[in-house]
Amino acid sequence: MKEKIEIIQADITKLSVDAIVNAANNTLLGGGGVDGAIHRAAGPDLVAECATLGGCATGDAKITKGYKLPARHVIHTVGPVWHGGNEGEPELLRSCYRRCFQVAHDNGLTSIAFPAISAGVFGYPMTKGCEVAMTEAKTALAANPKLERVVFVPFSAEALAIYRETFEKVFA
Ligand code: AR6
Repeated sequence: MKEKIEIIQADITKLSVDAIVNAANNTLLGGGGVDGAIHRAAGPDLVAECATLGGCATGDAKITKGYKLPARHVIHTVGPVWHGGNEGEPELLRSCYRRCFQVAHDNGLTSIAFPAISAGVFGYPMTKGCEVAMTEAKTALAANPKLERVVFVPFSAEALAIYRETFEKVFA
């Protein structure tokens, strides 16, 4: 199962997978960080489709087409804002990953790439968030044999080191 996981330090907008995940906000109408990069690369048709979706609750996920991206789809999820960890943040972040895997499965997608949801503007500690990401990937891969490729996309060298370390721990 371990061989289905890839960790690539990259700009997620460049990846050719069935779906890239967007770390969005509740409006789904765009923002900064990875959300801004995805909307810039996909072009204005993406925000037009997002505007028809009625927003997205924290911990949920919704799918659109990828438009000008190399990825066929974007799965938009809304991570929690970190308030210290006692306000349901771990459960909400776990829910983001679960819902993304569920939406991918429901749409027959076999490859998916994730940024570090909530770990930028929303302040979620990278190591804690990464543990959630890896354990949920392990669960999804065990439950769905058709899932072929799960790509994690740390954006910095520091994040890359955390992803590699957490991978070794979770998939030991
Ligand atoms: N490719 C991969 N990862 C990236 C990229 C990229 N092109 N750009 C940034 N990251 P953030 P959040 C990393 O802030 O914390 C937006 O305004 C970044 O280094 O994008 O979930 C939304 O609209 C960090 O590790 O998302 C929301 O309002 C990670 O992606 C809010 O920010 C997530 O950082 C969401 O905040």
